[in-house]
Parts: sequence; structure tokens; C-alpha cells
Amino acid sequence: MHEYEKSIADNIADPDRFWLEASSEIDWIAAPTIGWDEDSNSWFPDGQLNSCYNAVDRHVDGGRADQNAVIYESPVTGRRQTFTYRELQAEVARTAGMIAAQGVGKGDRVIIYMPMIPQTLFAMLACARIGAIHSVVFGGFAPPELAKRIDDAEPRLLLTASCGIEGQKVIPYQPLVVESLAQARHPVPAVLLFQRETLRADLGDGWAQDWSEQLAKAKPAECVPLMSSDPLYILYTSGTTGTPKGVVRDNGGHAVALEWSMRHVYGLKPGECFWAASDVGWVVGHSYIVYAPLFAGATVVLYEGKPVGTPDAGEFWRVIERNRVSVFFTAPTAIRAIRKEDEDGALYPASNLPSLRAVFLAGERADPDTIKWLEKRTGRPVIDHWWQTELGWPALATCAGLGDVRRKAGSAGFPVPGYQFHVLDDDGKPVSGEGVGNIVIDCPLPPGCFKGLWSNDEGFQKAFASYPGYYETGDAGFCDADGFMHVMGRTDDIINVAGHRLSTGQMEGALAEVDGVSECAVIGADDMLKGMIPVAFVVASGQQSEAELVTACIAHARSEIGAVASVKTIHVVGALPKTRSGKILRSSLRSIANGQDVTMPSTIENPDAIEAILAQLDVSDH
Ligand code: COA
Ligand code: AMP
Repeated sequence: MHEYEKSIADNIADPDRFWLEASSEIDWIAAPTIGWDEDSNSWFPDGQLNSCYNAVDRHVDGGRADQNAVIYESPVTGRRQTFTYRELQAEVARTAGMIAAQGVGKGDRVIIYMPMIPQTLFAMLACARIGAIHSVVFGGFAPPELAKRIDDAEPRLLLTASCGIEGQKVIPYQPLVVESLAQARHPVPAVLLFQRETLRADLGDGWAQDWSEQLAKAKPAECVPLMSSDPLYILYTSGTTGTPKGVVRDNGGHAVALEWSMRHVYGLKPGECFWAASDVGWVVGHSYIVYAPLFAGATVVLYEGKPVGTPDAGEFWRVIERNRVSVFFTAPTAIRAIRKEDEDGALYPASNLPSLRAVFLAGERADPDTIKWLEKRTGRPVIDHWWQTELGWPALATCAGLGDVRRKAGSAGFPVPGYQFHVLDDDGKPVSGEGVGNIVIDCPLPPGCFKGLWSNDEGFQKAFASYPGYYETGDAGFCDADGFMHVMGRTDDIINVAGHRLSTGQMEGALAEVDGVSECAVIGADDMLKGMIPVAFVVASGQQSEAELVTACIAHARSEIGAVASVKTIHVVGALPKTRSGKILRSSLRSIANGQDVTMPSTIENPDAIEAILAQLDVSDH
């Protein structure tokens, strides 16, 4: 039997046994004897371990002390730094001592608002070492978003740096953090700031302590024993409202699932080099820049740059070549950006990247054209795979490590062992044939998936409420006749902009606050580069000119949510199309923005609103 099929069959036959067997690849203080436990809603409830020990110390003890654990590549600052597992252990243990000296202990929260530098990775692992719960906040979010996360997580400590480097721009963090601390209701007892030479912060009035000074005084801290179900981290992600959802990940299930995925999904062997070109502020960064490759004894690349412009569209390939990357993971947007600048591959190396075996894509739907271009360029399998912050690791993929080679451009592949998928209609009935429906997954979810939402049990339960017995992914799609799953888009108001998950509801909330906006609607429109971009339709109420209102809307969305939201296209319209019950017809607006035919909905109250927008946008021929 094919290894993938055997794995699926074994998992379905006895999931507890399957995952308990997988758990033997992790070093436990007390090995688990129980798999899934319904009462505590957790995997391996009697297991005890430390995630940092499994990511770092055990490799030092196990013969990998002199192997590179982390390679930091920062093309803009021109820095390249390597850390062996032994060096990583020393850095992490001392960082853990520095954090503990601030009064942080097991179960305390630590917010990490930092750029893509080695200290960020040390800080995450250091929290894991002492049982503190880290919550990394993506650097592209504005102060109100950081403040919301501070208020929700109520951290004892905030870790930051003097600046981020975003493409060729230097982003000073001090004003952002100071503003966030002022906006937050929760008083953060301590702030530590890592000074970067590119731009130093002013610590004159003592708003933050100097990281390096504190580190110099710190004593290395040891790994503390944690229960498998103790939280490892909180990662906030966009929900359907303006309030982010704090996805909580445990220690034990996470370690088992991530280590398993490295070998069986990605086909990576210990000692090889893995690079996920993402950001530690997203789940891809948590799972595949930090934890999984280190659990597996691999070498990770930490890349502080962009696919293009740092300095050019050849940099990704040079990083792969220089570091002998075996498996590479990125978002389709990044490949589209490279292709746009280097369609003919003038910057693609003549060596043809001998170490590279496969490229994995996720974060948004991978369009077949991009996949085909990259396969042609590299001659390697390009594997689209699907997952989400809530799940923490791939749920649909071509499991290269289980010998699977089946691929179909446009599909995210097959269920990964542990996940059983269904496509249901809105009444919860299976959709027949290749019909599109709601994608749901059997409960319980496998190890590694979210075990709750921080201080939001109601929100957590909601994900299991619409289809009893299933987890509702929020994505729509279908299963084709060959068993390939196709994920077509969200069923809610979440959009993916350049692989970044954002909420249009949140953007509407921000725009509604702008003086002179009486109502607004934001939809995700197709975009050649970013996959999707937000497009806003606003109705004016004030006296200012259209240009002034547009400028004010863009500036407010940027200062409230952050540059990453990319709210740049605003149409000031006379009225929004609505149903007779007053619901905004966002699907009609989406069709208009995408230049598609608009069928007048039978429930529409004001058809003239659609006519007027079509005329205004000069798409009246549709
Ligand atoms: N800190 C501060 N600002 C940030 C930021 C960060 N960490 N990340 C993004 N931003 C800013 C950008 O500078 C940009 O600002 P601008 O509007 O002033 O130019 C804005 O947020 C939008 O950023 P982005 O969507 O990344 O667009 P871009 O035009 O700067 O770059 C790509 C386009 C395609 C090169 C880029 O989006 C990219 O690399 N995408 C791949 C994303 C990815 O790997 N996602 C992983 C998820 S798995
Ligand atoms: P995030 O939680 O930020 O990882 O975003 C998860 C969402 O991104 C999913 O629910 C999907 O909507 C989308 N997504 C991620 N990977 C893919 C993919 N391979 N194909 C289609 N959509 C994807």
C-alpha cells in the first residue's frame, strides 16, 4: 500500500495510537499514555515536556551541537549570521534568564513586537523555556491593534526593538510602541528594547530598558517542566469582527504535530535546511520559521527581506543557493512579484539550486499559472497546501514525505493524516459531486490545532456550532472526482491580501469612524499581484471634497489597522446597494470591482445604486 494511504488508514483506524506513536519522536519529561481526552479537550493530557528543550537542548545533547540551527539573512543591512545549536542554546537560555528577571514566570504573557531578527526567535524560545506564553504581534500593525492585543493578553512584559526594516524602509518602533502603551488600558509592567545599529531608540525617560544591558546581567535559565496542555503561545488572527481572535496553542500536541509534519508533509530530514519566507508575526512564521524545523533538528533560515527590491528578484534564489535549502515555503504572491520583475529568469542562478527538492506554497490560493511558471523555472515540484492559524500546520497537501506525488494545479491536494474533510451545504448536508460548499473537518481536530481562543470561549465554541461534530474552516471549496480538494475562498468577510489575513469588517469599522463617511462597505477584489486587495465604497455625509475624503479614509485605515491592510482603493458613491431588509449587497459590489457581470438581485431595494456605481466606475457595459 502507498505510504500516504497507509498513514491515512492507520490514523482513521486508531488516531490515539497513531499520535501516541508519533509522540515518541518528542522528548518528554513524562511520556503521555493517553491520546485525545474529550473531558479536558486536549491531546496527551498526562504528558509533560518543554518545547524549548525539544527545539534546542535535545539537539545539543543529541550530537547536533555544532550544526547550524539558525541562519539569519538580512540583505538590506548586509548582515548574515549563523548560530549553531550550541550557540542557540546559550542565547536562548540567557534570554530566558533576562525575561525571568523581569518577574515573568509560568503562565505569564509576554508580547513580542519585533522585526525579523535572531533576538525575536530567541525570545519566543526563551518564553517557552520558562513556561511563559508568548504573543508575537506582526510589525505591520498600527498602535490601536497592538493596544487591543495588550488589553486582551494582559502581558507582564513587552519585548521590542528600535526599528524594523521593511523592504528598503526603516520603521522606527519607538513611536508605535509608546502610542500603543498609552492607548492600552492594561498597564504593561516592563518593556525591554533591543537597540539595532540601523536606528537607535531614545530610552532617555526610561520608558523601556535596554535589552543588551539586561541580557549582560542575566543568568541562563533552565527549561521548566510543563503539562502538554499548558499554553505555549497566543497568536492573534483576524476574525469577522474588529476584535482579533487569540488562537491558543498547547505545548505537547504542537510539538508532536509539527515534528511529524516536517518529515511526513515536507519530507525534510534532520540536518537539512528549511526556509519559510514568511514573518514570525504570522502562523507560518511560528510553525515553520521557528518551531517545526528546530523540533526536527533542521537548520532554519530567518530572512529579513522581501522577494523583490532587497535588492532584486534574484535574492530568494541566492538565499536558497547559499544556504543549501532543501525545502522552500513561500506565498504565491511572492512568486508573482518575482515573476513580474524577472519573467525570463535572468536572475535565476545557473546552478539551478542543486539542494532544492520542492517548493511549498500557502497563505492564499495558488493560481495555476504561477505554479506552472515556477515549476518550469525550477524543474521542481511546486506544492500548494492549505491550512490556517487555527490549525497551526498543514491540513491539505501533497504529503511529499509520505511518498505522494499527485498534484493538480488549482488544488491544495489531499487531507493530511489526522484531518477528515467534508463539503457541506448551508443546512449541513453533504454537497454532491463537485459542488462547492462549506469546508468542515471532523472533530476532534488532530494534535497541534487550537485548544481555545484567549479569554473568548464563546468565539471558540462558535467555530464548532454551525455544523455539530465538525470544525467550520470558514473556507468554501469542493472535492473533485479524483479526490483533490479545491479551496476557492472564504465564506465570511475575511480576505487574503498578499498572503496576509485581514478582516473587511474591521476595515469597515475603521472607515466608519472617518468624519464625513455616513456608511461604507469593503470587499476583496481580485488583484494580479496580491491575490486580493480591499476596495472600499463609501457614502459621504459631509462637505469635504471627494479627494479629501479619500485621503482621510486611507490615512485613518493606516493609522488604525496598519500599512499591511493596504486600504488604498476608495470609491465615494451616492448610495450602497441594499436588500429590502437593509443588508448591503457586498457580492454585487465584489462583482462590480472585479469587472464581472452583475445580475440584479431580486431582493434589491435600490437597483439605481448599482446602475450609478457601474456608470461611475465606467464598467456600465457589464
Ligand atoms: N512592518 C511594517 N510595515 C509593513 C510590514 C512590517 N512587518 N509588512 C508590510 N508592511 C507595509 C508595507 O511596507 C506596505 O506599506 P506601504 O503601503 O507604505 O508600501 C504595506 O504594509 C503593504 O505591504 P505588502 O502587502 O507586503 O505589500 P508590498 O507592496 O510592500 O510588497 C510583496 C508586495 C508581494 C512583495 C509582499 O506583499 C510580499 O512579500 N508578499 C509575500 C507575503 C508573505 O510571504 N506572506 C506569508 C504568509 S504565509
Ligand atoms: P491564516 O490563518 O493567516 O494562515 O489564513 C488562513 C486562510 O488563508 C485560509 O482559511 C484560507 O482562506 C487562506 N489560505 C491559506 N492557504 C491557502 C491555499 N493553499 N489555498 C487557498 N486558500 C488558502
